[in-house]
Amino acid sequence: MREDLELKVDSHLVLKPLLEKDFVTIKKWKNDRDLSILMLSKFQHTDLQDVRQWYVKNMGDNNQILLGIYLVGTNKLIGVARVMFINWDAKEAELGIYIGNRSDRGKEYGSKAFARIIRYLFMEQDFNRLFLKVSRTNRFAMKSYLKLGFKEEDELENNVVLMAIYKREIA
Ligand SMILES: CC(C)(COP(=O)(O)OP(=O)(O)OC[C@H]1O[C@@H](n2cnc3c(N)ncnc32)[C@H](O)[C@@H]1OP(=O)(O)O)[C@@H](O)C(=O)NCCC(=O)NCCS
Repeated sequence: MREDLELKVDSHLVLKPLLEKDFVTIKKWKNDRDLSILMLSKFQHTDLQDVRQWYVKNMGDNNQILLGIYLVGTNKLIGVARVMFINWDAKEAELGIYIGNRSDRGKEYGSKAFARIIRYLFMEQDFNRLFLKVSRTNRFAMKSYLKLGFKEEDELENNVVLMAIYKREIA
């Protein structure tokens, strides 16, 4: 992905590539079992070297955009957003997001960051469809996605819902 991509969300929030100084914070979040359950990802203990490898691998993937969610004034990392498995022909991609610390959730940071990414992909990159997978039991995430305009498309295994949003429906 472009290493200089920076998406201003509002006066408080900006999306930009992760800074090396924040790998320790990422490590902490990757070792949070509850967070990995919400993210539907398999938990595995992560050290700093794993974070570095994860970063290099994902930044080198042309079918992915990996961004940190930063508070503007303090430059504090509060979360991570990813655009994954980009299909450049179909102009489709899967999205993923988390706000790392519980105390930073419920403040609309995640919803606003996602709205900015969706606007960027639809308006500046001409994407057609964006989708994500979420557990139906993840009430806050479900609320956030419905608020943003995602609609349920399919019911997958283990209470996981496939949700999608289309450019033609919001433009
Ligand atoms: C899902 C997530 C990205 C949403 O971002 P956010 O900044 O918390 O979003 P919002 O503040 O807009 O909250 C969404 C809804 O959940 C509610 N909510 C979120 N956190 C809450 C909390 N701690 N306490 C009470 N309500 C909360 C909000 O009130 C809001 O509902 P409303 O619009 O009816 O008021 C964020 O909560 C998060 O990172 N969760 C953990 C990881 C995760 O689940 N990722 C998604 C995996 S699919």
